[in-house]
Amino acid sequence: MARQRGCDVYPLGARLAAANRMTIAESLERRAGPRIDAAVPAVVFDHVSFGFDDQVVLRDVSLTIPAGRMTILLGASGSGKSIALKLMLGLLQPDSGTITVAGRRIERLSEPQLMAVRADIGMLFQESALFDSLTVAENVGYRLYEETEMPLPAIRARVEEVLGFVGLSAHIDKMPSALSGGERRRVAIARAMAARPRLLLFDDPTSGLDPITATSIDAELIKLRDFEHVTSVVVTHQIRDAFYLATHRAAGTPDAPRIESIGPDQPQLADFMVLQDGRISFTGSGRDLLATPDPFLREFLFKTLPPW
Ligand SMILES: Nc1ncnc2c1ncn2[C@@H]1O[C@H](COP(=O)(O)OP(=O)(O)O)[C@@H](O)[C@H]1O
Ligand SMILES: [Mg+2]
Repeated sequence: MARQRGCDVYPLGARLAAANRMTIAESLERRAGPRIDAAVPAVVFDHVSFGFDDQVVLRDVSLTIPAGRMTILLGASGSGKSIALKLMLGLLQPDSGTITVAGRRIERLSEPQLMAVRADIGMLFQESALFDSLTVAENVGYRLYEETEMPLPAIRARVEEVLGFVGLSAHIDKMPSALSGGERRRVAIARAMAARPRLLLFDDPTSGLDPITATSIDAELIKLRDFEHVTSVVVTHQIRDAFYLATHRAAGTPDAPRIESIGPDQPQLADFMVLQDGRISFTGSGRDLLATPDPFLREFLFKTLPPW
């Protein structure tokens, strides 16, 4: 019955342009595997500035998010991390500079054109942002109901598949209020991945969670990177989670995954950027970041990170 309700509340494809439906339908055709054109960066900011009336948030920021990898964007609270993600999604427009997503300039696109770009992006909003009046299945299938003409059984099958991926199959027909904070976050991850976007943006995925639950969320991000090969941008101020993501990989199979630590001599599995005072103050590996002589970065890192 839950599925029926979802259908009534959200008539299929009711509000979106045909072009957008095609894009999502195409993205659903894609299967796991090397489907990313590594030669085209996922996101490029070229001299991007952005501010509110009384405050400059980003000052002439240039950055490149490579395709097929995980990029971790670190920064103190209020440094502009969420704003950077909203610029990538085209939810905000830069005051100056250009933003390119998968080779396509996105500033000054019309809303239908932006919808087509967003069809290939999944976003985990800060604090999950689930719809409390919809079931888990309806939340996860939301974009598929809304933005595609997939038959309901196919949507249900995809919802079951992604809930299985995050280990929540048993909760499919529950309401979000019946779930723990970590489970809600996993539902939001399942929702972000349901339409098989090639780019996933995670806004503070572990904030407000205890360390054990946070580690279980990190594991989901690692599985998406290593099994699904999506490009991901992980925004966080949690240093511990950032280094966990960079130093652990998913082994085994999606049905029987194991999260393993990489060896000390192996290349880390994420690139780091630090946003500070409206600029990118660091780009490089986690090892380079730990070795930085920059006093601000050292304070930012070691106030929250034991000297390990
Ligand atoms: N809608 C808004 N109106 C005015 N200022 C905002 C708005 N959203 C964010 N800000 C300010 O922009 C700065 C960056 O915000 P944000 O990107 O949310 O930081 P964070 O790095 O914590 O995600 C903060 O100083 C915040 O107060
Ligand atoms: Mg934020």
